[in-house]
Amino acid sequence: MKRAIVAAVLSVIALAGFVRAIAQEQDKEVPVDARILAYDKGPATINVSKYPPDMQAKYKLFAKKCTNCHTLARAINCEFATDDEWERYVKRMMRKAGTLISADEGKQIFEFVTYDSKIRKKALYDKKMAGQPKTPGF
Ligand code: HEC
Repeated sequence: MKRAIVAAVLSVIALAGFVRAIAQEQDKEVPVDARILAYDKGPATINVSKYPPDMQAKYKLFAKKCTNCHTLARAINCEFATDDEWERYVKRMMRKAGTLISADEGKQIFEFVTYDSKIRKKALYDKKMAGQPKTPGF
């Protein structure tokens, strides 16, 4: 009888420790790369006054939806420039965001960032595209 009580108490203690370990694991913030944190400190807005009206509207959506978890500066000052890079990343951010960014909103944000990259990041965009094979591989 006594042994059964001791065993029960021990298993409760073990279980509590296990639950606490899981809770701590979930609280732990995934450390963000120093490279990425540096983007947060760059310019926080884009001057879109010369962009067409539809792009100005998409910029507003981008500024609203992409600031839920981090600064807009992060999305503005990153090294992504090509359509492929943006497609991959906007999709990744949409997955992280759950229902926050709808498929249509994701598409509009993608249209804005790819348009903006070809103007504001033209040098980087051209450099990256120059490295791409002219004809499809294989
Ligand atoms: C649900 C939270 C969340 C939302 C919403 C979100 N992000 Fe992020 N973003 C993160 C996290 C976390 C990181 C850190 C690195 C990672 O996990 O990719 C990050 C990193 C980034 C980076 C840096 C990536 C790199 O490796 O250089 C860019 C650019 C970025 N986000 C753009 C966006 C854009 C554009 C949107 C809007 C479509 C957006 N984010 C919305 C969570 C979010």
